[in-house]
Amino acid sequence: MSQGALITFEGPDGGGKTTQMGLLVPWLQSQGYAVLATREPGGTSIGESIRDLVHDCAHTEMTSVAEILLYSASRAQLVGEVLRPAVVTGSLVLCDRYFDSTYAYQGYGRGLSLEMLRMVTGFATGGLVPDLTLFFDVPPAVGLSRRQCSGEALNRLDREALDFHRRVREGYLELVAEEPERWRVIDATASVAVVQDSVRAVLSNWLLLRRN
Ligand code: TYD
Repeated sequence: MSQGALITFEGPDGGGKTTQMGLLVPWLQSQGYAVLATREPGGTSIGESIRDLVHDCAHTEMTSVAEILLYSASRAQLVGEVLRPAVVTGSLVLCDRYFDSTYAYQGYGRGLSLEMLRMVTGFATGGLVPDLTLFFDVPPAVGLSRRQCSGEALNRLDREALDFHRRVREGYLELVAEEPERWRVIDATASVAVVQDSVRAVLSNWLLLRRN
């Protein structure tokens, strides 16, 4: 059985990480890896219900604390039901967002205490930390205009002011600086094909180093 790993995909909205993850899955499978792709919030039946609730634009009254606890509840369910079992049985688990989104959006974006967020996150994840995290970096204005052009419905967080999204990006860059060995920064301003080439190069290197 090959060694399992948790690989998370992070970045501002409209960075294209979901598209990139979709392209990466068959490529990894073609190399013989067992791959499981999932997302946050969501990834389980309970998590998808929480996703609908937390992203519903009608819920303008949602408090920041309620928001954190909802994301964390979805995360706790995903860790217990999907992530841990899949990593233990040797899969490469790709997760579209994980706790770094909470630090970036709720911590740096909304200004909530990082210490408190780390405590809640530790409780929700039982200490499951990604082995590798890819940061899809795009300037917030580019990301937002991509989202607006994609025809996808904008969720509650997309509607935040541009300033909020700038703080989120700065937050991500601080998280990268704190733990450079876990993170790889991908320039996500290029075309889908070029970005996918970078992602595959990063993954190939990382998987090779891990084997040795
Ligand atoms: P989604 O539609 O999945 O956007 P994307 O394709 O950009 O990932 O919505 C996820 C939104 O939820 C995104 O705006 C970030 C936000 N979010 C948080 O604020 N905190 C979190 O902990 C998570 C997981 C997501």
